[in-house]
Amino acid sequence: MSNTNNIKKDFPLLQEAKVKHKPLVYLDSAATSQKPKQVIQAEKDWYEKYNANIHRGVYELAEQATMKYEIARAKAAKFIGAESNREIVFTRGATEGINLISEAWARHNLNRGDIILLTEMEHHANIVPWQKLAKEKGLKIKYWPIDENGELITLQPPLSGGQQKNNPPDKGDLGDLLKGVKFISLVHVSNTLGTINPVTQIIKQAHQKNIPILVDAAQSAPHLPINVRKMQPDFLAFSGHKMLGPTGIGVLYVKRERFAEMDVYQTGGDMIQSVTFKKSEYKTYPWKFEAGTQNLAGAIGLASAINYLQAIGMSVVSKHDQLLVNYTAKKLREIPEVTVYGPKTIKRCSVVSFTVEGIHAHDLASLLDEQGICIRAGHHCTMPLHEKLGVSATARASFYIYNDKQDADKFIKALQKIIKKWKQVM
Ligand SMILES: Cc1ncc(COP(=O)(O)O)c(C=O)c1O
Repeated sequence: MSNTNNIKKDFPLLQEAKVKHKPLVYLDSAATSQKPKQVIQAEKDWYEKYNANIHRGVYELAEQATMKYEIARAKAAKFIGAESNREIVFTRGATEGINLISEAWARHNLNRGDIILLTEMEHHANIVPWQKLAKEKGLKIKYWPIDENGELITLQPPLSGGQQKNNPPDKGDLGDLLKGVKFISLVHVSNTLGTINPVTQIIKQAHQKNIPILVDAAQSAPHLPINVRKMQPDFLAFSGHKMLGPTGIGVLYVKRERFAEMDVYQTGGDMIQSVTFKKSEYKTYPWKFEAGTQNLAGAIGLASAINYLQAIGMSVVSKHDQLLVNYTAKKLREIPEVTVYGPKTIKRCSVVSFTVEGIHAHDLASLLDEQGICIRAGHHCTMPLHEKLGVSATARASFYIYNDKQDADKFIKALQKIIKKWKQVM
């Protein structure tokens, strides 16, 4: 684990905030990350030095504002290795990105009876928009099952025809799973299990069958290096606030050739080329997908967050977060009363969910809060996954670059104390 002492100093809230007079141990970054002073300053600077509306005014301040916003778009494009800045649509976050694709692409390209493939580990943000569309258009939804380690089950094609016992199908072949599937939307990193899905291989196989894919990168973009030129998704969505940026800003990547298949999402000011009393003509992409005044300060803040992460290096961030979460998962497994969910291997990214025998997750979170430790408890917006796991709620600790081994140790020690006390009372 890299030394993050200097990193922690950049985060005012982690320096100043106290819970019940105890310094804060923040282990809820999967919900939202804390913000470094550089990001806070960038947003402040925007309002103090650059604020004007974009793409409209011809005065210098407005031109400067437009330039800064478009530079932020270029930063986001570079961050994920997009071929062009124009493949980046700014949204409010991953939720809006997914809704945008369901409305602007899927509504116009999928037909009655078509199957959308999701997985059993999706966040509600990647279930509800598809259920709504499926109901309206007569589409079907199929859920890719997971195994007891919280990993996608790789279904093999049925043994038939020339297939012999000594000639098994390729390992990793998705076989029958993709039959009739016309669109896939899947999470890269599960916000409950921490599972890292092999999206690049899945995309490759889906594309061999001409199936477009949306990747929900809400939990991966903050923690893993992402390169869309290598991964080749058709669409990829993430949120700024989970990667040190402000709330209310996110990125939707759309592969250039997919834009031609999309209708507009929202309509109004800024996304138009011309409007008469009779009709309107729209701008070209990506601007025609950004109706109305955007979260300009948010985009500037997100660019600053990207700068911050890139200065550390995404491979360093990823290594740090994975070491920390695996260390914690291992310590949790050593406690007999604890059940840990998700991969048993080290293929786990930044989150670990668990239950403690006899103590409800909400009680655990409250008792940890007494010690200044913030964790999440509940269904983490994955109710179907919790149903599959057979629990109504789990506790979840999640880590980021400003956390260190001391945070993990304080958490484990506090948890052990709580369990010991609870057992004495019960
Ligand atoms: C995997 C995943 N997808 C989508 C979302 C939705 O993100 P947002 O609420 O920022 O739009 C989240 C948020 O927790 C998430 O974890």
